[in-house]
Amino acid sequence: MNASDQPRRLDQILANYGYCSRSQACQWVYQGHVTVNGETAKSADAKVPVSAVRVDGEPIECPDGVLALLHKPAGCVCSHDAREGPSVYDLLPPRWIKRNPPVTTVGRLDKDTTGVLLVTDDGELVQRLTSPKHKVEKVYDLTVDADLAPSLVDLFASGTLQLEDEIKPCLPAKLEILGAREARLTLVEGKYHQVKRMFASQGCTVTRLHRSRFGDFSVNDLKPGEWRLLCREDFAAR
Ligand code: URA
Repeated sequence: MNASDQPRRLDQILANYGYCSRSQACQWVYQGHVTVNGETAKSADAKVPVSAVRVDGEPIECPDGVLALLHKPAGCVCSHDAREGPSVYDLLPPRWIKRNPPVTTVGRLDKDTTGVLLVTDDGELVQRLTSPKHKVEKVYDLTVDADLAPSLVDLFASGTLQLEDEIKPCLPAKLEILGAREARLTLVEGKYHQVKRMFASQGCTVTRLHRSRFGDFSVNDLKPGEWRLLCREDFAAR
């Protein structure tokens, strides 16, 4: 039996997995939406294993936690604040942000940045994937508004590039110049607007930014706005 299958109150299960509030749970049960081991549930305070519960005939979604990869399109923000405009959370199942704990993004991408964005409800995993200590690679494909100087390769690799308002210099980063104004940059950290600020410090503006890889994960055949669930085992070894 895994941790999530310890018997718990039905109203707590429905609320923690984002189906309804604890106070609405009685109504859901009363209205016959919920079965336990195939029998219509009678009471929201019964203690049952999550694996035995069906809501409208469906098992509880992602009982061991959510971990997904979204192909972030341009034009949406990694924020819950509706005042900031369309959000990546609008592209995900609404139930995910009602879970306790709710799903959050693993780091953030700017509104105009596209590509791999991981989302999870596992705070420890967020920590592990974003801490520079773990050296998880993030690969960015980009275009700038001026010709790239070959000397940037050594500068970015040196671990000495100091960005304004940062205490520590950027960790060594791998820059591959792919064309006059096209490049691929691999980082193992995620300072605020780091890619744009690294190039801005050298007099270039990033005009296109796409994260093509986060750790081992790429968008593959996902179209912008689409997402897929990932296996937690893929991360377990890290
Ligand atoms: N660096 C940036 O400047 N922006 C992003 O969205 C991601 C990394």
